[in-house]
Amino acid sequence: ETVDVDPAAYEAGEHESFMHKEMLEQPAAAERVLGGRLDERFGTAHLGGLNMDARETRAIRRVKILGCGSAYYVGQMGAALVEELARIPADAEAASEFRYRDPVIEPDTLYVAVSQSGETIDTLLAVQEIRRKGGRVIGLVNVVGSAIARECEGGIYLHAGPEVAVASTKALTNMFLGFALLALQLGRVRDLSIADGRRLINGLSRIPEQIQEILDREDEIAAVAGQLAAADSLFFVGRVRGFPVAREGAQKFKEISYRHAEAYQTSELKHGPLALVSEQVPTVAIVPDDELTDRNVGALHEIAARRGPLVVVTHEGVDLGEVECTRIDVPRNERELDPVLLVVPLQLLAFHAALQLGHDIDKPRNLAKSVTVE
Ligand code: G6P
Repeated sequence: ETVDVDPAAYEAGEHESFMHKEMLEQPAAAERVLGGRLDERFGTAHLGGLNMDARETRAIRRVKILGCGSAYYVGQMGAALVEELARIPADAEAASEFRYRDPVIEPDTLYVAVSQSGETIDTLLAVQEIRRKGGRVIGLVNVVGSAIARECEGGIYLHAGPEVAVASTKALTNMFLGFALLALQLGRVRDLSIADGRRLINGLSRIPEQIQEILDREDEIAAVAGQLAAADSLFFVGRVRGFPVAREGAQKFKEISYRHAEAYQTSELKHGPLALVSEQVPTVAIVPDDELTDRNVGALHEIAARRGPLVVVTHEGVDLGEVECTRIDVPRNERELDPVLLVVPLQLLAFHAALQLGHDIDKPRNLAKSVTVE
């Protein structure tokens, strides 16, 4: 399998940085990971590289996802997709911790390693630990033929093309979409209805143009970033599907803007961090239109009452009440797929904050694109 971009010829061109170029490449990259894998007729996904037959697929009792950094946060989004669509218990864990606790490896668990580079040593060693103990591992990997791809029994190539900036953007989008395809296929050999399968296929096929709609509003989001760049410390909050989005948003922000950014479940604010909310500490809140909107809006009031500046990433038409905030609306899709759209404004916020602060966006201090030694 190949991607249609030659890494040697890959340059930032007229862009500020590779990160900027890579954010803007997301619609095209998303088309590639979905290309040829959506089956509208049967409402399912075709993933030729999994190397699992229907009987093996039905025997899976648990899904365990392993990755580092942003790949770990997308792994949490992926676990939610697997649980929602396939109703298989699923969770994600930092690959850097996994092998140190002598993990119990179960034969009916499907292990999934997620990595852009395919060379992250912590993820590779986790894969080797699982295999040594007789477990089955598949990979969600971008770089074809990389160490993790070779070590796995099967997998889904992400086809994002080369990614140079340390802060991952298009690879993450494609990881999410890879998980959606996996969850759809697992779901359809189990209890997910053909109607639900088709509903998701339809949603997935709209994602590339909806990412483009958000990217087209870059100037508006850059202006919001200016408000955040001035703060020394900020919160990113979300619940359930929105929480890994908040974690990824905080990760991006601290990686390239060097501001202290902390992610919390919105529901946990009142159990501690609310003590820190003030005029000096802004919060970026993820408030999609879903089962939790009213509760999330309640939390916004709590923050506003402490004079905490608020940026709310939400959907058009969501009633935020009288709360004073700056809102960024993203397009609606199927609820299960919301995270991949909610995360795009957070990339732009981190990028523009870092740009305004004058930082080296592609090579943030102390960080490497892939960490290949322990
Ligand atoms: C490094 C990078 C992160 C990245 C992580 C996982 O720590 O700084 O941005 O998310 O590695 O990389 P991978 O190539 O395994 O996805």
